[in-house]
Formats: sequence, C-alpha cells, structure tokens
Amino acid sequence: MENETQTQQRRTPKFLHHCCYLIFLFIFFTLFSITQAFHYGDALSKSLLYFEAQRSGRLPYNQRVTWRHHSGLTDGLEQGVDLVGGYYDAGDHVKFGLPMAFTVTMLSWSAIEFRQEIVEAGELGHVMEAIKWGTDYFIKAHTSPNVLWAEVGDGDTDHYCWQRPEDMTTSRQAFKIDEKNPGSDLAGETAAAMAAASIVFKKTNPHYSQLLLHHAHQLFEFGDKYRGKYDGSVGVVKSYYASVSGYMDELLWAAMWLYKATDKEYYFDYIISKANTFGGIGWSITEFSWDVKYAGLQVLASKFLMDEKHKKHGDILEKYKSKAEYYICSCLNKNNGSNVERTPAGLLYVRQWNNMQYVSTATFLLTIYSNFLQSENQKLNCHDGLVGHEEILSFAKSQVDYILGLNPLNMSYLVGYGPKYPKRVHHRGASIVSYKENKGFIGCTQGYDNWYGVQEPNPNILVGALVGGPDNEDNFEDQRNNYMQTEACTYNTAPLVGVFAKFLQIEDRRLVHDSDSLLVASF
Ligand SMILES: *[C@@H]1O[C@H](CO)[C@@H](O)[C@H](O)[C@H]1NC(C)=O
Ligand SMILES: *[C@@H]1O[C@H](CO)[C@@H](O)[C@H](O)[C@H]1NC(C)=O
Repeated sequence: MENETQTQQRRTPKFLHHCCYLIFLFIFFTLFSITQAFHYGDALSKSLLYFEAQRSGRLPYNQRVTWRHHSGLTDGLEQGVDLVGGYYDAGDHVKFGLPMAFTVTMLSWSAIEFRQEIVEAGELGHVMEAIKWGTDYFIKAHTSPNVLWAEVGDGDTDHYCWQRPEDMTTSRQAFKIDEKNPGSDLAGETAAAMAAASIVFKKTNPHYSQLLLHHAHQLFEFGDKYRGKYDGSVGVVKSYYASVSGYMDELLWAAMWLYKATDKEYYFDYIISKANTFGGIGWSITEFSWDVKYAGLQVLASKFLMDEKHKKHGDILEKYKSKAEYYICSCLNKNNGSNVERTPAGLLYVRQWNNMQYVSTATFLLTIYSNFLQSENQKLNCHDGLVGHEEILSFAKSQVDYILGLNPLNMSYLVGYGPKYPKRVHHRGASIVSYKENKGFIGCTQGYDNWYGVQEPNPNILVGALVGGPDNEDNFEDQRNNYMQTEACTYNTAPLVGVFAKFLQIEDRRLVHDSDSLLVASF
C-alpha cells in the first residue's frame, strides 16, 4: 500500500482513485463470490446450532433451535438423583456418557486451539454454551467422588419407539459406575472433558473453571484407583458404546488434559511413566474416536518436545511423536503400506457405519498438526517423504470441502448447509412435526407408522448435524432407515467447530490480502 504522504501529494485525482478502487473492489467481490465455493463462517455458525437441537432438559429463553422444547425433565428421578440436562447422543434419546464426554472434550480442544479464530468469527459465546451444556450435566452426574452416572435411558427400549423427545414414554432408568462397578474409561474421558473445559473457562469464569477442575481431579483418581472397563459394569452400553480399546487410553488422555489444565508434575509423570505399559507409545493406529484416544494423546505429547522443561523425557516424547506422525502420515497416504483408505473421490474411509466421525476427527488432528509444524518451522517425516505444513492443511481442506459439497453427489453432509443436503436424517425429533406446532401426544409406535416410514423430507431441519456420510464408493442414500449413513452424532460435529473456524480465518486473511493488492493495483 502507498503511504500517507504520497496519497496527499496527489490530492486532485483522489476522487477518481476511490472511484476506481470501488469498481475494482466490486468486480473482485463479484468474482470472489462465484469462485469461493464454501462459506466456512456459515458452516461454523450452523454447526453450533446442532448442539442446541440435541439438548435434553429445560431449554433456556435464548434457545435458537425453536422447533425443540423441554424434555427429559424427570431424568434420574427414579434413582433419586437430578440428571436433567446434557445431550441426546444422536437420533435417539439415550444420554450416553462416554460419547457425550468425548464430544465436550473435542469442543473444548477446538476452543483452546482455535480460540482466536472462533473469537474473530464472533462465535466464542455459542461455543462456550455448547461446552457448558455438557459440563453442567457432568457436574450433576458426578454425585460423589467415586460415583458417576454413566447413562440415562437404554438403547434397547429407546430404539423400540419413534417419538419426539418432548413425548418420551420410554424407560429413563439411570446407570452408574462406582467403586464396586468401575469404569476407568468413562471416568477418564469425563475427567478429560472437564479438565479441557476448565481451560476454556479459566479467564471468563474462573470460579466455574475451578469447579470443573475439582471434579476432573476426583474423576481421574476414581478411574485410576478402581480399574475396569465401564461396559463390564454398565451392561446396557454393550451393543452401543462398548469400550473396545479399553481404559488405558482414557487414563493417559485424562492425565494429559489435567496436566495441560494444572501444570502439575504428577500428571506429566503419569503420561511418561505409563507411556509404555498403557500403550501410549506402543499402538500405531489410524483411528481417533470416542473409543480410541491414542492419536490425540500422541499429537499433544509431541508438542511437549518443544519445551525445555520436558527435555529430560525427550526419549519417551520422541516415541509419542513418532506414533503421532504415523497417524498423520497414514491419513496423508504416505506410510509404507498401512494407510487410511480413501473413496474414489478422496474422502478418508475407515468403516461403513458413520464414517464421517473419523473424517471429522482426522481433519481436526491434521489441522492441529499443521499448525504445530508451522509454528516450529518443521516438516513431517513420512515413509514416502517430507511433508510441509501447507500440504497437510490443504489435505485437511479437501476433506472439509468434500463434507460441504465438493463431492460427486454435490451433497453437503453438514445438514442445512448449501443447496443440497440430506433431507431424511435418521433423527426422531427432526422427523416428526415440531412439538411447538402440534402438542398432540405421539405414541411409541405411532411415530414409526406416521413419520418414520414416509418418503417426505423431515419437517424440521437438523441444522449443523454431520451425518454418517457416503459409502466407500462415494454413494449416499438419503433414507431415514439408512442409519449407517443418515444418522448424525454429537461427536461428528464437535471437531469441525475448530476446523471451520481455522478455514474461515484463512479465507478472511486471503480476502484482506487480495483486496490490499487490488488497492495497490488501482492506484
Ligand atoms: C515397506 O513394506 C514392505 C512390505 O511390507 C517391506 O518389505 C519393506 O521393507 C518396507 N520398506 C521400508 C523402508 O520399511
Ligand atoms: C455436480 O455439479 C457438477 C458441476 O456443477 C455437475 O457437472 C454434476 O452433474 C453435478 N452432479 C450431480 C450428481 O448433481
């Protein structure tokens, strides 16, 4: 850009310059709006609405998803505990503790890593509300140091009915873990969620942040002292959210978030001393999910290598890092043999049931890792060669853009985004007339007869939900009974919150940069 003196010297033609500049700018924005396919800011705002649609409990006055109403107001009553609130997991009305906690951890990690980007997008308030809706519930569910309520409702009776949450007549029995019925994975993930959230609220709500940390400490201690898989104690989760990877990943993961939240040596020592026995540096995996946390843990541990105070454990941290690299390289298709599969159009493909959850978490870790390499001015060393941070970010972008519609079907898998998106999402509330429009009770099987089976699109749009997505050939069938593809889950969308914010910021910077260049060109 020209400096002040130069422009003042050329006083007379200034008007003309401005005029030219405006015309240029107009042409530029017109072109830009044609060439720029994706509005990450819009996607970000929409993704946050989804969490409001999934709310259980008494909805607040500022609830933006207005087709929903209060529900689950007696949750916990039978057991004499207040379990009102929290999130419905997916298209049903069970409140499953493990995936809910992972959702909150990923929302919090998004808010920690991409805070500035989220602030610039004007969405920090909504992100915090989404996190707090979960953590408020965890506080209620953690009724004493060694008791955590794990689940409300159960999959089998819930799935027998197709009802709006406002009409729910299914069992709302609650299930817990305690000293005699341990669940180190659930306690660990809930501790991780609360510790991560405590970082998010540290500045704006220090009292709440301390409270979360207090619960996180206790939950970690409980999970560590009374070891066991929660699906052994809470049998009803077995066919839905069985903990296949066990609890060691969650204990390391919890220690990691507690260390980040407190800086206490004890938690760092835990990550180091148990790195080997708990599989932190043993497992090479190509999945990061509500069940398997190792890749996330390894990415976070890699960053410690940069700090002087961690140098004495450099050998262990290097091993964590090499596993993190293995994960990232496998997503980039640059490992020797063991890579994540891709569809013909380039979407990461892990398995046919709700594949998008893995795309979403991979995109998140790729974006984080790219940031990390950029800040350290490093490259990633894969078997198939060195990779720069731009290449990693550009692959992450290809996944995000696929999600938003750059795919053979031109379909956005983020519901409510763009001109074409799934219209028959497998979701009880969205597929039945809004309670606000029709308060007449809709019974258990009535919902199946009158709403589930019809061809019409859902009456309510589940804005911001990321559905299970296409198969390994990029095909997608928009049918309500095709739940492998058309059901959304809270942990699908959560990692995207940070990723959308990051790509929005990149687009904004590019726009400012390009319009600056134009400004120069116009003089
Ligand atoms: C790559 O994998 C092949 C087949 O498993 C193996 O024979 C080869 O030694 C590997 N190359 C390297 C450099 O590890
Ligand atoms: C997707 O969009 C492209 C470009 O506009 C078009 O050529 C193609 O036919 C579309 N495909 C489908 C399945 O709508």
